[in-house]
Amino acid sequence: MNWVHVKMKRPSWFLKGTLKHFILLAVVTCILYVLKLSFGPEECDAKKMHCVDAKRIKRAQKYAKQVLQGECRQDFVKKEMGRLFEEKYSMNISPFVRREMETHEAVFQYEPPFGFQKFSSKLHGLLELLPEHDLPEHLQSKACKRCVVIGSGGILRGLELGLALNQFDIVIRLNDAPVQGYTDHVGNKTTIRMTYPEGAPLSEHEYYPTGLFVTVLFKSVDFNWLQAMVKNETLPLWVRLFFWKQVAENIPVTPKQFRILNPIIIRETALDILQYPKPRSKFWGWDKNIPTIGVTAVVLATHLCDEVSLAGFGYDLDQPNTPLHYYDNLCMAAMNGQTMHNVMTETRFLQKLIKEGVVRDLSGGIYCEFCTKAS
Ligand SMILES: *[C@@H]1O[C@H](CO)[C@@H](O)[C@H](O)[C@H]1NC(C)=O
Ligand SMILES: *[C@@H]1O[C@H](CO)[C@@H](O)[C@H](O)[C@H]1NC(C)=O
Repeated sequence: MNWVHVKMKRPSWFLKGTLKHFILLAVVTCILYVLKLSFGPEECDAKKMHCVDAKRIKRAQKYAKQVLQGECRQDFVKKEMGRLFEEKYSMNISPFVRREMETHEAVFQYEPPFGFQKFSSKLHGLLELLPEHDLPEHLQSKACKRCVVIGSGGILRGLELGLALNQFDIVIRLNDAPVQGYTDHVGNKTTIRMTYPEGAPLSEHEYYPTGLFVTVLFKSVDFNWLQAMVKNETLPLWVRLFFWKQVAENIPVTPKQFRILNPIIIRETALDILQYPKPRSKFWGWDKNIPTIGVTAVVLATHLCDEVSLAGFGYDLDQPNTPLHYYDNLCMAAMNGQTMHNVMTETRFLQKLIKEGVVRDLSGGIYCEFCTKAS
């Protein structure tokens, strides 16, 4: 008999439920609409917000010139990192994966991106395809190398540092941060492009016949993707399905330009330098213990170069309506939603490096050395 009662009651309950859902839906729609209004792309169009103080431009350019004109100090950045982080910083890490590392236990202690645990055969297959594992000869033979890591920060817009940035020996760019159309702000030299597969530029014009393409491997299909790219083969459909956005299907460079980032550098950055908790993959997502590609590139640069500068770094989260990047319409507020990275910890680390004089900040977004000085 019970079900009869239930059945008889059901219409009113059903209606109430529907009404509740309807109201909830309306409220959610309103919230989404308000969010879209306040953080909409129009708000942060970097092209429209072109209002950098002329004095600031002059000071930034003068500062960059000073950095470039000083005498290049051999081994400077490594010695300084050793001073700051002692045994937590290794003086002799190979920047890129090499054949002999297949026997190094540390490389296989953690899963990607902190190591290649469970991936030794995939790694072996890739290493067979890559003829080179170092900087190109003309750079390696340079006694003192000055490097700049160019972040994607909206702060680069309008400082017109392009010409200065071109004068560094090694220019490291990240993910799909474009050069084409922005050369006044970011220069047009690219010695290294470092990215995970989803970040690789889709435009063939962002690749150069002499630049290195450095891949950061995060997951199983990343190995398949890299193999297809090195062999210049079509990406199998099942591989394509595993990526969270469209990936480049052709990287127009030769096999000798490909490198794999040594995962020990990510591990050193996360566990030793930033002191994040040990890797522990969860069912969905990650702890906030994966360093951004930007901070990882800075640590890579300390292993590759004698002197290191930064440009385009710094997220000012207190300014949610300023442009996040120099090349798109995203707002700073977009950074608050992400769960993978710990922006505050990274910023404190970079601030320390700059205040201690270990690296230079050419655009002043992390810690501005040229802002307080008289021009
Ligand atoms: C960069 O621009 C300069 C001047 O416009 C040009 O001479 C040079 O070839 C360009 N370099 C690259 C790598 O495109
Ligand atoms: C890759 O293959 C395409 C044809 O599929 C060819 O046009 C291109 O030159 C190849 N690229 C390299 C770097 O060999």
